[in-house]
Amino acid sequence: MDYASAQKYLSQIGQEQLLQYYGELTVEQREQLLKDIERTDFSVLKNIGRTRRPPQRIEPLEALSIAETGRRAGEFKAEGLRLIAEGKAAVVLLAGGQGTRLGFNKPKGMFDIGETRPLTLFELHFKDMLAVASAAGRAFPVFVMTSRDNNEDTVNFFKEHNFFGYPQDKIYFFVQDVAPACSFDGKVFLQEKHRVALAPNGNGGWYKSLVSSGLDKVLKKEGAEWINVCGVDNVLQRFCDPLFLGATSLGGYDCSAKVVRKTRPDENVGLLCMVDGRPSVIEYYEMDENLKSMSVDGRLVYCNGITLNYLFKISALDAVNCAAFPYHLAKKKIPHIENGVLVEPCEPCGYKFETLVVDMVNALDNCLPYEVERNREFAPLKNAGGADSIATARALLKENGFEL
Ligand code: UTP
Repeated sequence: MDYASAQKYLSQIGQEQLLQYYGELTVEQREQLLKDIERTDFSVLKNIGRTRRPPQRIEPLEALSIAETGRRAGEFKAEGLRLIAEGKAAVVLLAGGQGTRLGFNKPKGMFDIGETRPLTLFELHFKDMLAVASAAGRAFPVFVMTSRDNNEDTVNFFKEHNFFGYPQDKIYFFVQDVAPACSFDGKVFLQEKHRVALAPNGNGGWYKSLVSSGLDKVLKKEGAEWINVCGVDNVLQRFCDPLFLGATSLGGYDCSAKVVRKTRPDENVGLLCMVDGRPSVIEYYEMDENLKSMSVDGRLVYCNGITLNYLFKISALDAVNCAAFPYHLAKKKIPHIENGVLVEPCEPCGYKFETLVVDMVNALDNCLPYEVERNREFAPLKNAGGADSIATARALLKENGFEL
């Protein structure tokens, strides 16, 4: 794309501000900017102001209880281990996030949660995976999703740490797609005078990005039928949990989600339930007060709090259009160029566009909520202080016998 066509194109879509510093740029910078403009998917901006159809009919979805899992543990475990031993399971580790709330400027998986010794999130996770692989007698493939910004740091970190003892030929990296970031009135930001502000496009794009990286062929060559999709920032995350895998497979489901029981009506957590006849995750702000507090025998009816640990049957994912998931608008603090200088806002100043894994659940016909004990499996590291923070994650690790 040359300058004249960029100018014409941008004026048609109301984004001429992206060329405002063109006159000050070097030849190389001009080329870079024109390349960025050509590669940017401006169509996501259409999502601004678009309202989602409010849910019409919300119904509860019964979880597989901890007690029932306990009763059938032997059967579930045997099935899960069999699937892993036969090469039918794989993991996707979602590590492309920016971790802005934590305020850590490296990949979140590199965060050191140790107190008296170094212990990063990646190390914790790969220890867990190694234990499962050794119980099954086979290492499952692990696909690590990174972003354009953190891929190099992540890959180098794995190399420096000898892939945490996990078989190196079973670890694959792929870079997720990006979307432009813009002001609240829809003007795309510049992150440098010659760079369009682009941000990772949320964790829901993992399958599309995996396919565009060509790694879906590896997945199929490995013979995987199930994929366990997990966030990087739950320090108690369990990967390819044989019981979870066994319960989902024996139950004949296309998808399942580890959930923790919501205990207070006002707890702000996404809930897995049925919406308009389909499994869905409904956000706490989308639910009316009556449903939030509805209870039977002192137990909340809508209580399946999601934890970002899902199992998907690959054949079911192949049957839906993973490119067609909606974009959600996230209000964020976005560093950008304003009046010629870099501004680092303290308050949200615009939108990032994100796809979410929860929309994949909605695209499938069924989903099993699989209940786990919160204090054993859920310790998200989101913030530097307060709730879901370094201190709460450390306390829960210690409670579970980890030496920090
Ligand atoms: P969060 O939604 O908590 O986002 O990610 P984040 O980027 O880590 O943190 P903030 O919002 O900037 O503070 C939940 C999980 O999804 C992954 C994250 O790495 C984390 O494991 N994720 C998120 C991606 O892989 N890509 C994304 O674009 C966003």
